[in-house]
Amino acid sequence: MAERGLGRSAPNPSVGCIIVAGSRVVGRGWTAPGGRPHAEAVALAQAGEKSRGATVYVTLEPCAHQNGRGAACADLVGAARPARVVIACRDPDPRTNGAGIDRLRASGCVVDVGIGQGVAERALAGFLSRKRLRRPFITLKLATSMDGRIALSSGESRWITGSRSRAHAHGERARSGAILVGSGTMRADAPRLDVRLEGLEDRSPVRLLLGRGELPRGWQRLRAPTDVYELPVDSLLVEGGAGAAAAFLAEDLVDRLLLYRAPVIIGEGKASVGDIGLGGLDAAHKRWTLVDQRRLAPDVLEIYDRTR
Ligand SMILES: NC(=O)c1ccc[n+]([C@@H]2O[C@H](COP(=O)([O-])OP(=O)(O)OC[C@H]3O[C@@H](n4cnc5c(N)ncnc54)[C@H](OP(=O)(O)O)[C@@H]3O)[C@@H](O)[C@H]2O)c1
Repeated sequence: MAERGLGRSAPNPSVGCIIVAGSRVVGRGWTAPGGRPHAEAVALAQAGEKSRGATVYVTLEPCAHQNGRGAACADLVGAARPARVVIACRDPDPRTNGAGIDRLRASGCVVDVGIGQGVAERALAGFLSRKRLRRPFITLKLATSMDGRIALSSGESRWITGSRSRAHAHGERARSGAILVGSGTMRADAPRLDVRLEGLEDRSPVRLLLGRGELPRGWQRLRAPTDVYELPVDSLLVEGGAGAAAAFLAEDLVDRLLLYRAPVIIGEGKASVGDIGLGGLDAAHKRWTLVDQRRLAPDVLEIYDRTR
């Protein structure tokens, strides 16, 4: 549920909350567009009196800080008198960081922390990256042939992958705070980088160009990959091409790799990644872990996490 709010919950993280009374789900919520109301407030409003004695499951520690836009969730949840609160991740924000847990325990409920943490951290990756690394969570997307090409020698690259892969990639765009291409791709393809999924057209994120050249209206420029430390978004999708991919990889600024591979062989053509300054094979191993794999017929999608 937390993933439903991704790309729309700024300036707040997208959180999911479920309230269970006995064996029934009595309330569900995720962070609303614009960041308020919070997931807990939505779920509590649905559950009403049924939250008394119930179990509240939440992906992130309820906030302990008051805000002009609403009450602290730790107080809201405590006042609803659940018997138990299950929190997947502690909130590293210094205004909360354990204070939400303490306040819930003081209100009399049992609090369990860390259950389902791995899954919840995936939905909170952007928020956690910003807190821990001071930059957005960065995903590199590559659409390649079986032999790892992203274009013919002529530059033609539309389309290597099929419509299901492209629709999946548009879903990734919708959940991202910003999308980037290099100036070579801008010159070759003049991509729109919007979301063309029915009903999600309004989800199109901030568009960024890496490099020089004319900047289309509404786009912003990055002069170097390290400019991501200045970006006010939680997640960035790098859509290539080979030079941009190499630039982010060389700076070790890729956290997740989406590899869409089509059953075509291109042979001589454009390699998917340019020079990353690799000194030897030792440094190439153990950097990436396959975390998901699925068929998007006729293609295959593999998702890798940077092993840190
Ligand atoms: N199949 C796919 O998934 C896919 C996706 C995208 C693109 N493509 C294809 O890939 C080809 C384009 O790839 P490409 O490698 O030529 O171009 P590119 O990666 O789109 O852009 C390269 C440019 O990025 C800028 N850049 C690179 N590293 C930088 C750094 N460290 N700091 C600042 N700027 C940096 C430079 O711009 P300046 O020279 O302006 O400074 C460089 O010329 C096209 O044929 C396109 O169709 C395929």
